[in-house]
Amino acid sequence: HAEDGYALWLRYRPVGQTWDARYTAAATQLVPAGGSATITAATSELNRGLRGMLGAVPGQAASVSRDGAILYGTPANSRVIAALDLPLKGLGNDGFVIRSVRVNGHRATVIAANSDVGVLYGVFRFLERMETREPLAGVDVRDAPKLKLRMLNHWDNLDRHVERGYAGLSLWDWFTLPEWKAPRYTDYARANASIGINGTVLNNVNANPDILRPRFLKKVAALADVFRPYGIHVYLSANFGAPVAIGGLKTADPLDPKVQAWWKAKADEIYRLIPDFGGFLVKANSEGQPGPQDYHRTHAQGANMLAAALKPHGGIVIWRAFVYSAQNSEDRAKQAYSEFKPLDGKFADNVMVQVKNGPIDFQPREPFHPLFGAMPHTPLMMEVEITKEYLGFNTHLAYLGTMWAEVLDTDTWQHGQGTTVARVLEDGKGTGLTGMAGVSNIGNDRDWTGSEFDQANWYAFGRLAWNPQGSAEAIARDWTKMTWGENPQMVDAIVGMMMESREAVVNYMTPLGLAHQMATGHHHGPGPWVHNLSRPEWNPVYYNRADANGIGFDRSATGSDAIAQYAPHVAALFGSLNTVPDKDLLWFHHVPWTYRMRSGQTLWDSLIDHYDKGVATVAQMQRTWALLKPYIDKQRFDEETAFMEIQHHDALWWRNASIAYFQSLSKLPLPAGHAEPP
Ligand code: GCU
Repeated sequence: HAEDGYALWLRYRPVGQTWDARYTAAATQLVPAGGSATITAATSELNRGLRGMLGAVPGQAASVSRDGAILYGTPANSRVIAALDLPLKGLGNDGFVIRSVRVNGHRATVIAANSDVGVLYGVFRFLERMETREPLAGVDVRDAPKLKLRMLNHWDNLDRHVERGYAGLSLWDWFTLPEWKAPRYTDYARANASIGINGTVLNNVNANPDILRPRFLKKVAALADVFRPYGIHVYLSANFGAPVAIGGLKTADPLDPKVQAWWKAKADEIYRLIPDFGGFLVKANSEGQPGPQDYHRTHAQGANMLAAALKPHGGIVIWRAFVYSAQNSEDRAKQAYSEFKPLDGKFADNVMVQVKNGPIDFQPREPFHPLFGAMPHTPLMMEVEITKEYLGFNTHLAYLGTMWAEVLDTDTWQHGQGTTVARVLEDGKGTGLTGMAGVSNIGNDRDWTGSEFDQANWYAFGRLAWNPQGSAEAIARDWTKMTWGENPQMVDAIVGMMMESREAVVNYMTPLGLAHQMATGHHHGPGPWVHNLSRPEWNPVYYNRADANGIGFDRSATGSDAIAQYAPHVAALFGSLNTVPDKDLLWFHHVPWTYRMRSGQTLWDSLIDHYDKGVATVAQMQRTWALLKPYIDKQRFDEETAFMEIQHHDALWWRNASIAYFQSLSKLPLPAGHAEPP
């Protein structure tokens, strides 16, 4: 079924003549060390990969007895590996070494690590080298993840509806669990392990408390059993009001001893079923969810109470900073910082605070969240949205590797120059807790993500969580080779499309720093005119502030002063019209329609240019894609062709609707060469 997308980037297609002999010579024999479930998984992946790529499965042996053997395991389980004296020190549990060595007088490749999961990661990397046609002779790789927790957050409801999901129903079939462990759960674990993902939150942050009931916990335990050999720990979103909703208590006040005892007993119960349970993810006092503030307690008091229940078992609490309140008239972009910055140093040492990449909500572009670097005593985890809620759902081609790399590479200046967001994330503040979370785009569609190109976003998330300083382009290239094939012209063309795709979306939806212009509720399509929703900060007009005079949100010192939440260097950069990057202009400033950009163009003309550029880029991607027809199987080619038609149509819709609305305020003509909206 390689052509229906099910295999993801683990397609393992025949490598073809150029590579066949070379790879076959390097894969003549499998020599696993130890017999754990994880090593067994590594063996079965090698068999699957080698059978697919080379047409045959090498024999298995207890020791290296021929040239081309692959020896894999830990020094603890293999005296031969121990004797090779490999540089495993400093690689932690998850790192690995892949090296060409001589064993018993034979050429061999050793894949070694300090733990079996590290070995499995090494095996996946070995197979990836073959899939991307890298040489195996003389291989010498030493790698370890820079972040400890590399997690997916599923926003899956217990009725299998996926909040902001565009790829079918939830993978978790609660009705047939725990008895039926569908093979697809194993394939999910394989895909995640192949990119180093080691944690999964199974349920929506808008959490149904029922997940904590015994009948659901048994089902959760069954999934944890499937994922365990692949190094994946299960976490749950916990509803802070659960003691009331399902526990029969009258309060969920974190300082109430009965509430504390309830959570402690709940944690004990969970760990009896799932000894390596990861912990709780919590959305509290946000968008209607219950939380400690209902009892006049702080976020830290709420988080620490749960942390105390999990602590004896080694579990952690991941507390979300995505808060903004109906009672608060402060600029929404400022509220998370205002709430959490004063709590720095007040969280228990098994609490992480999970911060979205930007201060509003997963927009096509946002400046980085001001909390990064601003909580020197609190381990922060970055949360990105893999599912494209605000970027055209599953049909628009938008490679998000570039978006995440843009944030990760940004310098917060919080501890001097070079304190990039990536560096902030890599610093566990002495707790060893570091991480990144991605809101999953996975559902039960045959292709998992609702489109081929959205698989790239799952893949890129894993790679960047492993190494936040990784290159979005290199990641796109690896994914393209594994997903579409090795023809160099095709690879260049597809990578080129991917690299400009997200900027195209920014241009046709929300150019020059605009944000949150999407239609109400579903967030698909334009709605910059919407002004009558019950909460002001849900209205697009709150963000564009467009009127007869101009457009943009003044967050400088003359406005909401959100810039003051950044380090002085960054505040100065964003705060001045002379230095603010064009891409962030209307995020930080309100300017007249006739404002002169540094290019000499007026703001109005520049805005129109950006909308048109967005549409033109999509048209260009369509032309590029059409030329690739000879290289791509029919089903995947036809589907993407159709999806790009949808994207082009939507891009025009965005462009026309946005220009028509803003023109009704600016009353300005379109610059020469740009079509009036119909
Ligand atoms: C967005 C999204 C919601 C989600 C929320 C969150 O606002 O639209 O569906 O619940 O983010 O991250 O909690």
